[in-house]
Amino acid sequence: MTEKDFLPKPYPAAVAQGEVTWQSPSNIALVKYWGKLDHQIPANPSISFTLDSCRTTTTLKYSKKEKHSDNFEFELYFEGEKKDSFRPKIQKFLERVEPYLPFLKDYKFIIDTSNSFPHSSGIASSASGMSALALCLMSIEKQLDPEMDDKYFTRKSSFLARLGSGSACRSIEGELVVWGFQRNIYGSSDLYGVQFRDEVHENFRNYRDTILLVDKGEKQVSSTVGHELMNGHPFAERRFQQAHENLDRLKKIFRSGDLSEFIKVVESEALTLHAMMMTSQPYFLLMKPNTLEIINRIFKFREESGLHLCFTLDAGANVHLLYPEKEEKETSEFIEASLKQYCQNGQFIHDGVGSGASKLA
Ligand code: PMV
Repeated sequence: MTEKDFLPKPYPAAVAQGEVTWQSPSNIALVKYWGKLDHQIPANPSISFTLDSCRTTTTLKYSKKEKHSDNFEFELYFEGEKKDSFRPKIQKFLERVEPYLPFLKDYKFIIDTSNSFPHSSGIASSASGMSALALCLMSIEKQLDPEMDDKYFTRKSSFLARLGSGSACRSIEGELVVWGFQRNIYGSSDLYGVQFRDEVHENFRNYRDTILLVDKGEKQVSSTVGHELMNGHPFAERRFQQAHENLDRLKKIFRSGDLSEFIKVVESEALTLHAMMMTSQPYFLLMKPNTLEIINRIFKFREESGLHLCFTLDAGANVHLLYPEKEEKETSEFIEASLKQYCQNGQFIHDGVGSGASKLA
């Protein structure tokens, strides 16, 4: 599909007002997206586990304007309170998606959103937030075009979510989602995320992700700035190529169930992401001393226990711990006894792989 396929034909139906609620999860990348071209086209393909309990719930109320006006009319509430600081981000999102949703200026919107994870925990809420909003808008379009099929609905939701925040396009479906064209992954596209449909070994079923909240502060580097650091980065081309190679390796690993190889790819991807930030101009060091303590403890634990706990990182200090379901008991004991102490206020979140967004009403 191309961008043009997401431009709607004149709508056959009309709708005056209504309300819709979607719940959409966060996701954690195994091969990282870092670097982009215009219109949120990724510089390399990425793959992520969709999460289960870290979710955003968004209710969108809409009513037709009495008189057409040439601006977007919306009110924003976050966890029950008016949140004007989010307005610029939503305004920009609406501007970007308007060509694909030409009804936006015909309605007034009230957007009410809340997260299942603690406020300012450092957990990226843009993926769950933007995907939930994209799905709500698609539910309106579905009413205007009742014949729309489910596949188009899902693809276009992911396409729109991408225009809000790149990684958000990987939050619509579960359990593994690829975004970015990769030669040997069927259906993969730079425009939207697709479910990874190759064989996946049972070792990866219900894989666990415990998120250690190491630093709950404001992000030091916004992802917009972060992606820009890859423009003219001395290692950019090699890095983009490496992401393709790592996705190829993971494809084989998902089939074979080789957890030791899985760890090598996933941890190297996380450290490469941070290495890119450390070697850009300007440079950033986003790991905290406790991030390193945790990583070293994981290495030691793995050596002593023979278990398969590994880590990955986003563009921040928090650590995602990935491990197989059958090692859950020993691993959670280890987290309680040896890692919790490195978390801010002892906070962590047990999550796992999930199946994607769901419509609540
Ligand atoms: O979706 P963005 O623009 O916030 O970028 C997310 C980038 C990383 O989280 C660091 C990696 C990824 O692939 O999710």
